[in-house]
Amino acid sequence: MPDDVRQPRGFSTRAIRAASRAPRVDQQPTAVPIYQSATFATEDAAELAAVTRGDVPGYSYSRLTNPTVTALQDAVADLHGAEAAFAFATGMAAIHATLLSLVRAGDRIVATKNCYGSTRSLLVNVFAELGVRVDFVDLTDHDAADAALAAEPTVVLYAETIANPTIVVLDHAALAAIAHRHGAAYVVDNTFASPYVCRPLELGADLVVESATKWLGGHSDVMGGVVAGDARRIALVGRVEVDTGATLAPFSAFLILRGIQTLAVRMDRHAATALALAGWLERQEGVRRVVYPGLPSHPRRDVAERHFRLGGGMLAFELAGGRDAGPAFIDALRYTELTASLGSVHTMVVHPPTTSHRMLDDAELAEAGIGPGLLRVSVGLEDLEDLIDDFTTALEAVRPLLATPAAARG
Ligand SMILES: Cc1ncc(COP(=O)(O)O)c(C=O)c1O
Repeated sequence: MPDDVRQPRGFSTRAIRAASRAPRVDQQPTAVPIYQSATFATEDAAELAAVTRGDVPGYSYSRLTNPTVTALQDAVADLHGAEAAFAFATGMAAIHATLLSLVRAGDRIVATKNCYGSTRSLLVNVFAELGVRVDFVDLTDHDAADAALAAEPTVVLYAETIANPTIVVLDHAALAAIAHRHGAAYVVDNTFASPYVCRPLELGADLVVESATKWLGGHSDVMGGVVAGDARRIALVGRVEVDTGATLAPFSAFLILRGIQTLAVRMDRHAATALALAGWLERQEGVRRVVYPGLPSHPRRDVAERHFRLGGGMLAFELAGGRDAGPAFIDALRYTELTASLGSVHTMVVHPPTTSHRMLDDAELAEAGIGPGLLRVSVGLEDLEDLIDDFTTALEAVRPLLATPAAARG
């Protein structure tokens, strides 16, 4: 009997039914609505079974698919020129599911030696513990990469577009060719660049992952992760998510979609400010070197020029002092956010030798290309003059901790 004929008698039943009816909308909303629903109702049991099995398109349960999340996935696929994309609760969840869709016990992953700390930990503490062999290689050295893959069968070559914290740039076209020559999938973490700055799939990568918490979201108010690639590979990644459940929340998908709409204008401004700040820093006494992909002095400027639309928002510079200078510089800043993240409207300055790389001694830091006074900057959307003003004050504050100007220039 239809609902309207057989009216419920109790108030609770009435209230639940009354408050669960979404209006039908024939006019497309301009912003993607937040489908804040765990479940989706079907006409009958047969439709529910068909949707759940994936035999017909549709929605049944938000761990499997949710319309707001689907909209984000479609947007990310579009930006990367991919057939498909999948979204996750965090960037680490995206990396985990991507790798789990590719490797089994006994397989081998070769990863960039400069990879993000939590990714290294995931590879060593999760995948290696499950019987996956993991080797780290300097992927700026193409001969070393080729030799590593030639030495033993490898399922995944894993790289990052811009290394943390040294801002080293990898050549995806060359590395994809090496991976494919040896039968490995080439997987790239493009978080530091964003699809506006670099599109690794167009350079030969098989899958690209990003922490959407950074430039895609762009405002330090949401966590998320995405992976894009061909439909077959993404279906396998999606299957891992259904079983492991690192589902992106619809509200988070909405915030990331909102961020994506302004990605280009934000990145243009981040990059313009970063370029000006990097150029200014290069001229300051007490600054030993500056690493920014948009500067002519960048060690792999040729790769950045070929593969990047612009230099991006990440730079690093090295104070001519020991480990004390970095934290003192950060403490003297007034307009930046004191956090370890990146890719936001706020400028964020971190000192890797006392944070992410604190366990390394000076010799090990040097081996990793990190001086004791290295600072990593995620350049925000503040006014350039204010940032220069702030950095000037901070440089003055740490001047007593820095080496002499002559030593600094050396
Ligand atoms: C390069 C890179 N990849 C992945 C991640 C992980 O992203 P999330 O914090 O969203 O899990 C981060 C986080 O800082 C990162 O810097």
